Amino acid sequence: MLGPPGSGKGTCARIISKIYGIPHIATGDLLREVTAEGTERGRVAKEYIERGELVPDDITIGVMEERLSEPDCDEGFVLDGFPRNLRQADALDRILKEKGMSLTHVMNLVVDDEVIIGRLSLRRSCPQCGAVYHLKNNPPKRDEICDECGAKLVQRSDDTEEVLRHRLEVYEEKTRPLLERYREAGLARDMSGDLPIDEITEAVRRVLARD
Ligand code: AP5
Repeated sequence: MLGPPGSGKGTCARIISKIYGIPHIATGDLLREVTAEGTERGRVAKEYIERGELVPDDITIGVMEERLSEPDCDEGFVLDGFPRNLRQADALDRILKEKGMSLTHVMNLVVDDEVIIGRLSLRRSCPQCGAVYHLKNNPPKRDEICDECGAKLVQRSDDTEEVLRHRLEVYEEKTRPLLERYREAGLARDMSGDLPIDEITEAVRRVLARD
C-alpha cells in the first residue's frame, strides 16, 4: 500500500490481510515496537519518528528483513509503509528475489492534504493489537476502547499538526518518486482514498480478483 500519511494504508491493509489470510506488515508498527526495546537502534528510531523523518535505512531495512524471513510470510503478505524511498525499493526487490517471490500489486491511495489533517487529528490507535479507529468515521463501539482486544486507545505522538505537515513534505520528497518506478513497471494503480472505507475495500477486492 502506498500513499501519504493518513491516506488509509493501514486501515485498508488490515482488511486485505483478513480477507486473504496473509500477514499485514506495517513498518511504522514494527519501528514503534523497536523504540520500546531499550536499544540504541530503538533510541534512534524514536527520535526520527517523533520528528516525522524517515528512520535511517539500515534500521528500517534490517527490521523488514527480519520480519519477512518469518514463516508466515512464505505465502504472501501486504506491506504498509514500505518501501518509502528508492533505496528501500531496491532492498525489497532483493529480499523478494531471495524468497523466490515478486511484487504483484501496488495500490496508491490518493487523498488531499487537508482531508488527511482532519483525519489524523481524530485517529486513535490500539497500542496492543494495532487496530486503527477514527472518532467520527470509524469509531470504536465503546468510548476509546479497542473493539478487538479491549485495550485503551491512544493518540500517536507524531499526529500533531506540525509533525504531520512535515511527514507530508517527507512523503512528497522521498516516497512519491517511487510511484514513477512502479508505474513504469505496470504495477501501480491509483485509487481514491477519500471514499467510505467499505467502498475502498470493495474496489481493492475487485482489482485483486481481476489481476
Ligand atoms: P507510519 O506508521 O507508517 O505512518 P504513515 O505512513 O505516516 O501513515 P499513517 O499510519 O499515519 O496513516 P495510514 O495511511 O496508515 O492511515 P490509517 O489507515 O491509519 O509511519 C510513522 C513513522 O514511522 C514515519 O513518519 C517514519 O518516521 C517511520 N517509518 C515508517 N515506515 C518507514 C520506512 N519505510 N522508512 C523509514 N521510516 C519509516 O487512517 C488514518 C485515519 O483515517 C484513521 O483514523 C482511520 O480510521 C481513518 N480513515 C482511514 N480510511 C478512511 C476513509 N476511507 N474515510 C474516512 N476515514 C478513514
